[in-house]
Amino acid sequence: MAGSGVAHLRKDDKPVLSVENLVVEFPAGRHQTVFAVSDISFDLLPGETLGIVGESGCGKSTAGRAVMQLPAPKTGSVEIDGTELTTLSSAALRKFRAKMQMIMQDPISSLNPRRKVKHLVTEGPRMWGRQNREALEKRGRELLRAVGLDPDMVWDRLPGELSGGQCQRVCIARA
Ligand SMILES: Nc1ncnc2c1ncn2[C@@H]1O[C@H](COP(=O)(O)OP(=O)(O)O)[C@@H](O)[C@H]1O
Ligand SMILES: [Mg+2]
Repeated sequence: MAGSGVAHLRKDDKPVLSVENLVVEFPAGRHQTVFAVSDISFDLLPGETLGIVGESGCGKSTAGRAVMQLPAPKTGSVEIDGTELTTLSSAALRKFRAKMQMIMQDPISSLNPRRKVKHLVTEGPRMWGRQNREALEKRGRELLRAVGLDPDMVWDRLPGELSGGQCQRVCIARA
């Protein structure tokens, strides 16, 4: 049963995220279609958290991925900070991706087991132009402190040497 529904839409309050009439469908062979998300709308103000609840297979993950344009929805609008994502060129969308991130449920399988924390937390800043080694290290340590990890403790460790909770913090620091 595909999910549908409307949560608060508050146009006047400058939402960070505004999703309207989101529809996602998947082809399922032989003229069949999976109606994964059938018209959902919601928005988020700065600092708000929104939980989407529903039975298994109702389209929660698909809705989250469609917000990230992975894949883009069939129809509907996704606006982040006033930018409409569904009509951006792929180059513009690639640039915009630095501003939005997913944090997966399973932190351990989200991290490359062969990369040390120092590489994992500096990968994003490195990709987005910070090349200087000292600046990267400073930023990486700052990000770890921001999620409550002691950089000196974890800097040279591999994900397998951390607890699940510590891995999840590394994922949040990367995001
Ligand atoms: N890539 C895909 N191709 C085809 N069907 C998919 C794909 N991803 C999800 N689905 C289907 O879309 C529906 C919603 O899936 P999903 O969003 O993962 O549900 P939830 O996260 O709420 O458990 C399910 O019926 C699922 O089988
Ligand atoms: Mg899911």
